[in-house]
Amino acid sequence: MIPLLSIKLFYLQMENALIQSYCGVFGSVPEVFSSAPGRINIIGEHTDYNSGYVLPTAIDRHVVLLASKRADNIVHVWADSYKQEARFRLGEDRDTKQGGWIDYVKGIYWILAQKGASLRGINAYVWGNVPLESGLSSSAALEVSTLHALNMLFALHLTPLEMAQLAQKSENDYVGVKCGLMDQFISVFGKKDRAVFLDCETLEYEYIPIYLTRKGLGILVYDTGVRRDLATSDYNKRRAEATEALEKIANSGIRSYRDITLNELQKKRSKLGETHFRRARHVVTENERVKKAVDALRADDFLELGKLLFQSHESLRDDYQVSCPELDLLYDCGKRSQVCLGARMTGAGFGGSGIALVQKSGLPSFKKMISDEARKKGFKQPSFHEVEIGEGARVHRTQVD
Ligand code: GLA
Repeated sequence: MIPLLSIKLFYLQMENALIQSYCGVFGSVPEVFSSAPGRINIIGEHTDYNSGYVLPTAIDRHVVLLASKRADNIVHVWADSYKQEARFRLGEDRDTKQGGWIDYVKGIYWILAQKGASLRGINAYVWGNVPLESGLSSSAALEVSTLHALNMLFALHLTPLEMAQLAQKSENDYVGVKCGLMDQFISVFGKKDRAVFLDCETLEYEYIPIYLTRKGLGILVYDTGVRRDLATSDYNKRRAEATEALEKIANSGIRSYRDITLNELQKKRSKLGETHFRRARHVVTENERVKKAVDALRADDFLELGKLLFQSHESLRDDYQVSCPELDLLYDCGKRSQVCLGARMTGAGFGGSGIALVQKSGLPSFKKMISDEARKKGFKQPSFHEVEIGEGARVHRTQVD
């Protein structure tokens, strides 16, 4: 185990190095240091915008934004990962999207202006180690770190929940992805070694301990390398289909998918039609799996958790139809491997990443198995990340001697 002191020292050194980088670009020291993590979702996929349950965790990968107020209305951002700068002027070109990463920052300014916040320009330096466009929510992390920084710089007094909701709204209404609340919520509320069991209808949540290391287990993220832009993928279409299906079966007793059992749903199969039935069946069964996964974690039963991960993937592949051959490869390898307890796609799907619950000692052989299979099938060479469950967003004023 790495001693806590050396972890703190590592972060202090990293912060100092980033402050130096900010100085290199802007010639002064930043006022605030804001950091927000990416996420994986253990289980509960495409349930957040269906008023269901989710069980995500923050990961030990972050987007960091260092920023200072400017006297004028210009927002000037340097993105280290892209070695690119972008600028926009408040009020004037605020409503037009520029395309690319800057729109996540613009979206936050846009949503705050809708709320009536009075803001000025900033200089900002963005650094991150959340793999980009991999389905690990680097965009939510950028939104949340931007919001935390603006909240502190302009004394907006936003609560953590307001920040998660505003970030989601900016993605819905500015970027154009009709996502649920999960990614922004976990980026704000994540906690080390805890999954967050969130009820997306009531917004009640509970921290569920998840200690993998003492069981010799680890979470492997498998990045297919298949990139998809959610704004143009079938994500919004799935959301619309799930809403239409619910409308067909809604009545005074059924307001959401939580009010109907699988048995009752089966009886409505012909009324729904095959596509709508399948979308609905995924949501109803996935909600049940999330609750079972929470019970499994409470009982430290990782074998049961693994089975639920496999079942979740089957449902996403066959009923919700958001998987792809590269993601199915993880599931297939996981099923055949002795060292993998469970595997599934994580996040929106259509590419991006999957997660596998794996015995740490077997990680190298499991990775090799997947890489070999990917090569045989002529898929892109995947990348792997061994992630830890990390803390949620934080912001503080920089202290410079
Ligand atoms: C994306 C969205 C989330 C959620 C997942 C699927 O990550 O941003 O709101 O809908 O897809 O579970």
